[in-house]
Amino acid sequence: MSIAVITIDGPTASGKGTVASLVARTLGYHYLDSGALYRLTAYKALKHGVDLADEPALEKLARELEPIFREGKIELDGEDVTRAIRAEEVGVAASKVAALTAVRSALLQVQKSARKAPGLVADGRDMGSVIFPDATLKVFLTASAEARAQRRFNQLKEKGIVANIGTLAQDLRERDRRDTERAVSPLAPAPEAKILDSSDMTIEETVAQVLAWYREATEKRSH
Ligand code: CDP
Repeated sequence: MSIAVITIDGPTASGKGTVASLVARTLGYHYLDSGALYRLTAYKALKHGVDLADEPALEKLARELEPIFREGKIELDGEDVTRAIRAEEVGVAASKVAALTAVRSALLQVQKSARKAPGLVADGRDMGSVIFPDATLKVFLTASAEARAQRRFNQLKEKGIVANIGTLAQDLRERDRRDTERAVSPLAPAPEAKILDSSDMTIEETVAQVLAWYREATEKRSH
């Protein structure tokens, strides 16, 4: 039997990361934050002054990326970048490098190899549609633009990062547009994905819904 995978895709600030890591923790599964790989690529490019349109240079950078994920922290080239890669500037740069085909292929293998027993919860944009098409359960998590801007604002504030809610809403719309309109792996629900609008749901309710769907899906498979 193949190793179980739950994919949670959706637009920026929909709560994917929080929900996916809680679902993983509840089930004792591994967790793949695929967005972090694009953020790390973008972070390194910004740091080394690599042009965000220089596809061959960015591909090399993505291919040679050697991040260490340990106890909720991310290390890159000996530096703790856990906080730094969450900056909005890095998110915007990540969505630019993520539109490049060569960068996406360079990051393919590392994502696929995250599928380890007893199971995996993966969050991103194309987890269900491209990376794990045979996932046990595919969820597409959304929320209204207003709810997402507010969540991102609170999240940054908690991390001590000062932000402006108007600017955040604007960035969010631009990122949605770029992620949805790109030619390669655009942001869209996989045909069989369950759509979950969490605008008026708490994190606990959202996690509970995903777990309930997962139970249903595994019961169906075992019959
Ligand atoms: O947390 P947020 O949703 O803002 O961002 P993220 O999940 O960390 O991803 C940052 C950027 O990486 C997104 O805007 C996408 O353009 C890109 N990404 C992607 O293209 N494919 C994925 N599987 C994950 C992220």
